[in-house]
Amino acid sequence: MATIIDGKSIAQEIREDIKTEVSALLSKHQTPPGLAVVLVGADPASTVYVRNKHKGCEEVGIRSFEYKLPEDTDEAKLLLLVEELNNNPEVNGILVQLPLPKHIDSEKIIHAINPEKDVDGFHPINTGKIMIGDDDCFYPCTPFGIQELISRYEDNLKGKHLVVVGRSNIVGKPIANMMVQKNEKANCIVTICHTAAPDISYYTKQADILVVAAGYPNTVTGDMVKEGAIVIDVGVNRAPHPEIEGKTKLVGDVNFAEVSVKAKAITPVPGGVGPMTITMLLKNTVKAYNLQNK
Ligand code: GUN
Repeated sequence: MATIIDGKSIAQEIREDIKTEVSALLSKHQTPPGLAVVLVGADPASTVYVRNKHKGCEEVGIRSFEYKLPEDTDEAKLLLLVEELNNNPEVNGILVQLPLPKHIDSEKIIHAINPEKDVDGFHPINTGKIMIGDDDCFYPCTPFGIQELISRYEDNLKGKHLVVVGRSNIVGKPIANMMVQKNEKANCIVTICHTAAPDISYYTKQADILVVAAGYPNTVTGDMVKEGAIVIDVGVNRAPHPEIEGKTKLVGDVNFAEVSVKAKAITPVPGGVGPMTITMLLKNTVKAYNLQNK
């Protein structure tokens, strides 16, 4: 039976460290790190995420600036706000919650954020730096959290075969690029498989470390995993509750019951990757502050 990788308690440990660091920075510079979070519209999931980001900031002593704009905000107005935040020295990190309403070009907004304040790690300057292994960048929060979980469970990553299922710009591509670099938290042999593969199990069975970010429940079942693998489940899906009719339940992309019997370690859903994401955002905000106060 696999060890359960407890993302919640690891995230809490990291938050304690961030809190200590923020308190030292406040004594040194007299101003706390600042994070601006922009929400356009009232998408229920985004509203919850944004609220949790503010709570996280409060917990570690980061000052948060909240911008809630109406759904019909036009692109020019949002670009103006981004520019204002780029120029505000109290704001070290800028996060524009995605998805944006359809009439706004998300790419244009992401490109407008100063890469030195892009704590989401979505700006192409940061994406490019990740690819060439330049650590003077921001890693997107979910892959950053995944790397932290993996490196805490496996100290010798050199030469391990890491297989990623899914090629999204937010998870699949960045985690693959991060884990292929030559450093002690990476140095893996990396494969990305995706929907064009006739049979993803050909790849998943070879994984020492399997990162599943496909977006569908049950993408990886027990027969698709090697004995002793480390399995990171990035999925967040709503599925019908197995016991209560009419209710739903959060499930990942991995069939937990089957895979946990074969894996050496596995992340649960919820409580695995999820709690790490906002914690890494807080870490990125402190990194931004340090870069801007050199
Ligand atoms: N929406 C869902 N996840 C994220 C994230 O990591 N960053 C932003 N900006 N929006 C999101």
